[in-house]
Amino acid sequence: MATGARVTSFNARRVRADVPLLRRMVNGRRITYLDSGASSLQPRAVIEAMSRYYELRHANVHRGVYQTANEATEEYEGARAAVASFINAPGGPDEVVFTKNTTESFNLLAHSWGASTLTPGDVVLVSEMEHHANIVPWFQLRDATGIEVRFIPVSDDYRLDLTKLDELLEGVKLVSVTAMSNVLGTKNPIGELAQAAHGAGALIAVDAAQSIVHGPTDVRELDVDFLAFSGHKMLGPTGIGVLWTRASVLESMPPFLGGGGMIADVRLDGFTPAKGVARFEAGTPPIAETVGLHAAVRYLEGLGMDNVADHDHELTVDALSRLESNFAGRVRIVGPHDTKDRGGVISLDVEGVHPHDVAQVLDEFGVCVRPGHHCAKPLMRRFGLAATARASFGPYSLKSDTDVLLEALEAAISMFG
Ligand code: ALA
Repeated sequence: MATGARVTSFNARRVRADVPLLRRMVNGRRITYLDSGASSLQPRAVIEAMSRYYELRHANVHRGVYQTANEATEEYEGARAAVASFINAPGGPDEVVFTKNTTESFNLLAHSWGASTLTPGDVVLVSEMEHHANIVPWFQLRDATGIEVRFIPVSDDYRLDLTKLDELLEGVKLVSVTAMSNVLGTKNPIGELAQAAHGAGALIAVDAAQSIVHGPTDVRELDVDFLAFSGHKMLGPTGIGVLWTRASVLESMPPFLGGGGMIADVRLDGFTPAKGVARFEAGTPPIAETVGLHAAVRYLEGLGMDNVADHDHELTVDALSRLESNFAGRVRIVGPHDTKDRGGVISLDVEGVHPHDVAQVLDEFGVCVRPGHHCAKPLMRRFGLAATARASFGPYSLKSDTDVLLEALEAAISMFG
């Protein structure tokens, strides 16, 4: 993102006031939403942009020639340009493919770039802290083609163990890692990994599903080759995701899904795919969702992603220190205690209480957290856990949310402990 390119203004209370859902009452208490890692909430600007689009401009895109159809196409392509600028894509909008979500972005990457580039014995290096979206598509490709999927281990301090990175990189064609763990909150050294990957002749893909709303993302600065993320984790709607890749790589990628909109020609003997990003967007795309995503990007740019990162850090430092001092020996924090390179995702293992029971009691206080394996089973196994109760912050979170979390945790422990 072109940080500092526009005037930004961050006030978490104002952000909170912009999110209608945060006014809801749940079980007689004001909602305390601590599940932004699973899905963020939407400010009114996003909801209204989508409503306005449906009220005034809805039509299919890249098809009609009437006024509203042209306007819908402009909205759709405008969203692409906004996303490109948000992540500082060197080739602009022509490098931004719209998908359904991060999971579909990784499936596109594996089935298009992976299937056409990798040959038996080639290695895709992922990490033990990936969520399933960045593991399963590679296993599927492995089972179909004979590639190898290798894992960077996670150390006891919940960070990537890069001590044997040179060895791990042997034969690797793609490194595919998360920028921020959805379970641990760990932020990974993507710039360093990109340098190592390129030094070994590999490309690097980054899962930005969590990191995208926790701080600035600049693909040029990171020097990565692919970036995947979802709209709904960055204050936008569900049903829209992004796969960014360099224009030079994108040109070499064959289509994944076939149908209308992705072709230059179809004959009785075959078809010619469209050029550019269109060849990855078969069928009627999620148009209103891109309008919502565009509004979310504008909203986040207005806050300033550096400010959002500072706020997230402040909340995380406060929550970790209070959890450690109030619950020492009763609650284990499954993630780095050191707050450097760590974001506002806090997984808890409450001594003697099942995470689902924790979440159930928290719900009685209006506190929303996610219990479970967080779609990261290999990571849970690594730490001998079946599940955790995970609290995660968004730009609208306040320290008062942590107050309620602590109050509810105390109740859960006294009820089951
Ligand atoms: N990856 C999402 C989460 O962490 C679904 O909850």
